[in-house]
Amino acid sequence: MARDAASTGRVESEFDSEAPDLISDIWAAKSELDSVRSYLGPEAFVTLGVLIVVALGWLGWILGKPPAPARAAAPAAPAAPIHANGLLAGKYETIRVIGRGGMGDVLEARDQSLGRTVAIKRMSTRIADVGAQGRELMLQEARTVAQLHHPAIVDVYGLIEEGDTLYLVFEFIRGKTVQQLLAESRRLSVERTLEILKPVCQALEFAHSRGVVHRDLKPSNIMVTEDGYPKLMDFGIARRIADKTPIQAEAPKPQGGFDYIHTRTIVGTPLYMAPEMEQGVVCKESDIYSLGICLYEMVTGERPFMEPATAFQKIQMDYLKPTLRVPELPAALDELIGSALQASPESRMHTVKEFLERLKAVAKPAPKGRIA
Ligand SMILES: Nc1ncnc2c1ncn2[C@@H]1O[C@H](COP(=O)(O)OP(=O)(O)OP(=O)(O)O)[C@@H](O)[C@H]1O
Ligand SMILES: [Mg+2]
Repeated sequence: MARDAASTGRVESEFDSEAPDLISDIWAAKSELDSVRSYLGPEAFVTLGVLIVVALGWLGWILGKPPAPARAAAPAAPAAPIHANGLLAGKYETIRVIGRGGMGDVLEARDQSLGRTVAIKRMSTRIADVGAQGRELMLQEARTVAQLHHPAIVDVYGLIEEGDTLYLVFEFIRGKTVQQLLAESRRLSVERTLEILKPVCQALEFAHSRGVVHRDLKPSNIMVTEDGYPKLMDFGIARRIADKTPIQAEAPKPQGGFDYIHTRTIVGTPLYMAPEMEQGVVCKESDIYSLGICLYEMVTGERPFMEPATAFQKIQMDYLKPTLRVPELPAALDELIGSALQASPESRMHTVKEFLERLKAVAKPAPKGRIA
């Protein structure tokens, strides 16, 4: 029966050319064996006969084998290559690297389709090497921030996946981080600090009311726009409190009636991280702790705990009171920071609202000296 060449392909054409050669080879071998038969005994003849039968069986198996399926077609090239025309995802023209953080580079880019500037965070190779966990952090960041629309929270516009690389597309903020502001002027006045932290507190309150803990609050994650409006970013390691991961039996459980999650993944920045986070416990009070550290750094220009900022230092509350660093600061600031930096979340201030109210009260009476 004639076979369809296209369906049988290379394997069938090999059968056609090889089969006659194999038959003639075997018959040639058989006649040679016949000629030596007389020199050998009947036992040797039987052995050789078996060999011939095996060879013929092998030939039969080859000829009877069904043709191999045609080679699978190569997967079609993606309709729109991610870097088509030098544009990421076909629409983002990358302009320059504007920053570099723990998660990767941050690029300024232009969305050609909407004609707006965006910030794109590219997951670094180092994080990509972490594998599924690093990837999940990025995806979690996108999902969490996508749900939080607030004027003081940097919007996330989209997520692009390219092989092992992930790109997060954010609202572009023209301005400076609080870290940059502190690098320029060392410290800020209490009033300026309140101006910056007020919207940040409102954004955190909003996030907490939706069960989201930021978990990485620090000066480099607060940007102040050129118009002076603060924006909180990088909910990268935030998790919804509702999204509880299994609690480890051996880990200490915080007492008291507050919501918390227990996670096996400890992520954050030690200098700003609440001590319970080092044991995998995360609650909204953890953000209040970081807020206290930010406040301390903004008004004094120093961090309360020097590196490595161990849990022991934090539990001992082993830091200089702000007024000992900057004597003109109001004493009420020492108390506010003391309440925020309580080592145990049970004895710490419980709401961002209270933190803000107390900060407003501290800023009200004119400080003895204006700083920035
Ligand atoms: N949406 C944005 N708009 C403008 N600039 C941004 C934006 N996001 C980040 N940047 C810039 O990129 C820098 C790096 O940000 P990134 O969040 O990656 O690092 P980080 O905050 O220093 O560290 P971490 O990775 O721990 O958050 C920032 O300091 C800021 O200057
Ligand atoms: Mg950041």
